[in-house]
Amino acid sequence: MRPTLILLALFASSTAFADEVTYRNDIRPLWEQKCIACHGEAAPSLAEFDENKEKYKQLSQGPRMNDYANLIAFVGWPDTGALMRRLDDGANTKDRKPGNMYENLGADEAERQKNLSLFKAWVGEGGWFLGKFKDLDKPTLMKMKVAE
Ligand code: HEC
Repeated sequence: MRPTLILLALFASSTAFADEVTYRNDIRPLWEQKCIACHGEAAPSLAEFDENKEKYKQLSQGPRMNDYANLIAFVGWPDTGALMRRLDDGANTKDRKPGNMYENLGADEAERQKNLSLFKAWVGEGGWFLGKFKDLDKPTLMKMKVAE
């Protein structure tokens, strides 16, 4: 390779890694493709959903996650770890089975893995915590990036 090409290649890879994954640029468009059908504006709030879970499950409606604030409620608080438990591919779940929303990440395994990586990069590798609020410690919380 010519030196200029090597420099170009280095530059391209370093900017790719430096790019922060954000809700607006990355997660929102992905969510519109893969999640909006069941978690959009018409979906119930988390409180409504929790009070009538069976009814909404039958309607194939999950709780509303239609904006940044409503989505991060499933990362940090009050529904701590829910997004990670549901989207994980089984590498970090207790029973080593994928969470039940993993299948919604893509039509095939390659697409699911790609989109899982995007969610992981958004939440932050060290913040990919699958437990409940009572087990969340501050160092882990500090690693949750979820940039808007
Ligand atoms: C075909 C409909 C459908 C699609 C598409 C879908 N979901 Fe869901 N989701 C549901 C339903 C129904 C529930 C509630 C039932 C359950 O708990 O499994 C749910 C539950 C969840 C929960 C748990 C909420 C809680 O109460 O703790 C999370 C988190 C979640 N979904 C995330 C996502 C994400 C992120 C996507 C897109 C990648 C997605 N879902 C795509 C139907 C869907």
